[in-house]
Amino acid sequence: MANDQGPVLVVMGASGDLAKKSIYPSLWALFKASRLPEKLHIIGYARSKLTVQDLRQRTAEFIQVREGEEDQLEKFWSINSYVPGSYDDPEKARDLTEALRLIDRSHSGRCDRLFYVALPPSVYESVTELIASHWKADPAKGSTRVALEKPFGSDLETSERLDRHLAARFHEDEVVRIDHYLCLEMVQAIMALRFGNGIFQALWSNRHVESVLITFKEDFGTYGRSGYFDKSGIVRDVMQNHLLQVLALVAMEPPESSDDREVRDKKTRLIQQIRPVVAEDVVLGQYVGNPESKLEGERLGYKDDRDVPKDSKTPTFAAIAFHIDNERWAGVPFIMRCGKATNEVKDEVRIQFRQGDQRLASLFGGGESTMGKNELVIQLKPSERISLRIRGKRPGMGLELDDAELAFDYASKYGESPTGPYERVLLSVIGGDSPYLEA
Ligand code: BG6
Repeated sequence: MANDQGPVLVVMGASGDLAKKSIYPSLWALFKASRLPEKLHIIGYARSKLTVQDLRQRTAEFIQVREGEEDQLEKFWSINSYVPGSYDDPEKARDLTEALRLIDRSHSGRCDRLFYVALPPSVYESVTELIASHWKADPAKGSTRVALEKPFGSDLETSERLDRHLAARFHEDEVVRIDHYLCLEMVQAIMALRFGNGIFQALWSNRHVESVLITFKEDFGTYGRSGYFDKSGIVRDVMQNHLLQVLALVAMEPPESSDDREVRDKKTRLIQQIRPVVAEDVVLGQYVGNPESKLEGERLGYKDDRDVPKDSKTPTFAAIAFHIDNERWAGVPFIMRCGKATNEVKDEVRIQFRQGDQRLASLFGGGESTMGKNELVIQLKPSERISLRIRGKRPGMGLELDDAELAFDYASKYGESPTGPYERVLLSVIGGDSPYLEA
């Protein structure tokens, strides 16, 4: 790697929540692990007039620094700078143009420009317009990539409009659309479990599966982001993207290779086979405060937030049963449920198998529930775990069945996962087809 090569990463929205809680901490984790390109320069860009020192203070709570890492932390911040500016007014965005030009001049080699848009979707069009007309890399010097996170519009029309807007300004290879949930270790593990195990391949259909339950529960409310959330609601926020992707991975036909396009096509085919949802299959709710709770956060309901209109009907909870009209899944409900401010953090996929052959119940003393139902649970959060609920023999003289569990706990086998979802996201944005990173 030549020393004067190195991309520049612009974090747009550097003063915001996503940057503070996920992007900067993940960049630091990658930096410590020497996984960033040697000559990467990071520019934080936002409207507020801040300095790198301010960014440091804002992110300190989320950046984990162990003893002995202080020097590295200084080096990390030394590759950072901060530029204030506008998201829609070219006149007020000139400082970034100048900062990019200076970086270009200091590199005699390649200098790609990567823009991570950590901003509300309401400014996607204006900010990408600025990038396209003022900040694209000179093709002789390097490439340009723009990373955008979901939501991509709020319905088909607005999503297609955004696509048209981007297509008119960027080549498709220059746009990275991100659903960070796909980068969770356990979401990636679904493919391994399904297609790496003959026994599960054999069981993976309506012949043996009775229902699939996909759960997303958070124990905190929408405080701090209600402005966005109230316009979006839980279905748009996590169901139609994160959970739908999980459903597609669980239910799609086996892809012929791990090629992104092949996997995408198999998922698309599956999603096309989902029957349109009807109102009888939907339950919506909104959380209220618990006046008896000792915790202040729990005493407040969704509408107690001053950013939420008093008559808001935005759902913070949703449960929907989906039906897939294909041979493999006909008759098997896929139930998704998700909620903010629930009693616990729990994200999981629960595959419930049909009850064992009732004729064999007499072996164990009979009774309707004797045979039980096996369940395969892929737990994403709070810990990474795969378990299979089985019926075992209760110790003793008789032949009596009892519930038991076969479990594979990731932390016990591998320790803490070395790569968080945003680290994977950032590596794929920085990596791509660039020459900076090794596989
Ligand atoms: C985001 C949603 O996409 O995903 C949030 O907007 C949600 O509402 C978050 O809390 C959950 O993902 P994670 O993995 O970052 O906890």
